[in-house]
Amino acid sequence: MAILVPGGAGYIGSHTVYELIDSGEDVAVIDNLETGHEWAIHPKARFYKGDIRDRAFVDGVFEKEDIECVIHFAANSLVGESMTDPLKYYENNVHGTQVLLQSMLAHDVKKIVFSSTAAVYGEPVRTPIEESDPACPTNTYGDTKLTMEKMMAWTEKAHGLKYISLRYFNACGAHISGRIGEAHNPETHLIPLILQVPLGSREFISIYGDDYDTPDGTCIRDYIHVTDLADAHILAARHLNSGGESNIFNLGIGKGFSVREVIDCARYVTGHPIPEKTTPRRSGDPARLIASCKKANEVLGWSAKHTDISQMISSAWNWHRNTDLI
Ligand code: UFG
Repeated sequence: MAILVPGGAGYIGSHTVYELIDSGEDVAVIDNLETGHEWAIHPKARFYKGDIRDRAFVDGVFEKEDIECVIHFAANSLVGESMTDPLKYYENNVHGTQVLLQSMLAHDVKKIVFSSTAAVYGEPVRTPIEESDPACPTNTYGDTKLTMEKMMAWTEKAHGLKYISLRYFNACGAHISGRIGEAHNPETHLIPLILQVPLGSREFISIYGDDYDTPDGTCIRDYIHVTDLADAHILAARHLNSGGESNIFNLGIGKGFSVREVIDCARYVTGHPIPEKTTPRRSGDPARLIASCKKANEVLGWSAKHTDISQMISSAWNWHRNTDLI
């Protein structure tokens, strides 16, 4: 039987497909290539180009493939865009997931691993954040992901769907093969933006505010390597395939780095001075987001293998400076 990966041409989706295939799984990918990249699709995955909102298309894939479990990444994920075009996010993320779940139920596929986000917590009430802490998103993107989680919880009650929602903190890094990495358009994430400076496509990195209540005044985030995220999806799928219960897990390393620490580390890794400029705060940025990963460790047996931020930045640098794909 195969695993179906909607969004398998995107950043975290493509890395998960690589890890799935490396661990011997049979994989089919769905992607509309709106934000994903054809070059990121593993050559051994069967690729279906189309949109998860297109019920006839999704039904066709389930009819052709013998699917045991779905690992769902297909969504828009830009926080800023979600605030200026919220309905795009409800349409693609929420309605898309609704159509996917309807098609899954119609084909008696009842296991799904789902890509969620730390953005569901909004401004955290404590650090590290536990899964049972209040979920009060402060942006549309986070709200769509929380809505998708709720949709799955109610579908479980009505139809016995089993789901695992993985709430990622700050994904970063690239695959060890050097074949795939992080490529968003537009790019909004800190590490790839920093690396544009030594690559020559950006003059300096902006620090969005240095007046936060943190030791150096800049925001603190929990950076997690993308292949550690990928491994958690595989463990989650195996958990469901062996009869495990639905659940929600944070995925981070349980340790935070400030924007300044990340920039300093990138200077060390790249050997480039990387000039910086402090600008006003970006609206909606919490000062500190750090995961408690105890639950994923206890229930899935998962823990991050990459905990050294310079190793994570090195893997991103290795891909960015060698690729001609972006
Ligand atoms: N930052 C800068 N300068 C930049 C870009 C980012 O100072 O040029 C700062 C941000 O203000 C933030 C930190 O670097 O403090 C990390 O920013 P990212 O945009 O890389 O990541 P976010 O923490 O904003 O976003 C991540 C995920 C989102 C998720 C969000 C949850 O990428 O998908 O966490 O809060 F929604």
